[in-house]
Amino acid sequence: MSEHVTVEVADGVCRIRLQRADKKNAIDRAMYGALAAALHEADGDETVGCILFAGVPGAFSAGNDIADFAGFADAERPMAELVDFLETLAAVAKPMVAAVDGLAIGIGTTLLLHCDLVYATPRSIFRTPFSDLGLVPEAASSLLGPLAMGHQRAFALLVMGETWDADTALSAGLIYAVGESAEGDAQTAARRIAAKPRQAVRIGRALLRTAPDAVRERIAEEADHFRDRLRSPEAQAAFAAFLKRG
Ligand code: COA
Repeated sequence: MSEHVTVEVADGVCRIRLQRADKKNAIDRAMYGALAAALHEADGDETVGCILFAGVPGAFSAGNDIADFAGFADAERPMAELVDFLETLAAVAKPMVAAVDGLAIGIGTTLLLHCDLVYATPRSIFRTPFSDLGLVPEAASSLLGPLAMGHQRAFALLVMGETWDADTALSAGLIYAVGESAEGDAQTAARRIAAKPRQAVRIGRALLRTAPDAVRERIAEEADHFRDRLRSPEAQAAFAAFLKRG
C-alpha cells in the first residue's frame, strides 16, 4: 500500500484520492499498487455503486514518477505495477467519475479516458508530453483518445503534447463539465449514480464502453512499445534532464 493513496467509502461512493502534494501527485510504483488494490476492492464491494478519483488542490496528477521511469529501464519486470494498474482500471465494471483541479499530466490525463464523467476546475490543464520524453501513449489512450475526440484532437494531445486548458478539454470531449466546485459536483454525480439501480447502471455502462478485450490488447501493445522507448537514448536523456533540474 502507499500513504499517498487514500480511500474512503461513504454514501455508496468509493473516493480514491491521490495525495502526494510535494511531488504534485506524481505516481510511483507503490501508488500504482495501492490504486490497483483500491479499484479491486471497490469493484467487489457491494456497498459501492460508483468510484470517484480526486487529487489535491492544484494537482490531480503530474503523471508517472519520472525517477521510476528512469529506473524501469533496468528493472527485471519493467512497468509491472503500472501495467497491472492499467489492466485493473480497464476491467472495472462500476462507473468511475473524476474530479480534476490543476495539473493533469500523462497518466493524469489518460486515466480520464476510462472515466464515465470528468469534472474540472477552470485552472486545470491537460498535457501528455509522451513524445517530448521519447515515449508513446499509454493506458489505451491511442484507442480511446481518437474514439472520444477524433483523430486530430487526439493527435494534438497525445502525440504533439499540446497543453489544453479546461475549456479546450471540454470542447474536445475529454471532460464533461468545468466549474469552480468540480470536486463537489463530481461527488454529487457519483452519489446520484450510486443511488440508481446497480445492475441497470452496470449493464448500461458496459454497453456504452469500448470492448474490454480491445482495450486490454491495446494496453499490452502500447506497453511493448513503451518498454522499448524507456531504454532509448531519447527517453533516457529526457529523464536525466528532468531529474537534474536545479
Ligand atoms: N515525477 C517525479 N517528480 C515530479 C514529477 C514527476 N512526474 N512532477 C513533479 N515532480 C516533482 C518535482 O521534481 C519537484 O520535486 P522537488 O520539490 O523535490 O524538486 C516537485 O514535484 C514539484 O514540482 P515542480 O516542478 O517544482 O513544480 P512546478 O509547478 O514548477 O511544475 C510540473 C509542475 C508538473 C509542470 C513539472 O514538475 C513537470 O513538468 N513535471 C513532469 C511532468 C511529466 O512529464 N510527467 C510524466 C508524463 S508521461
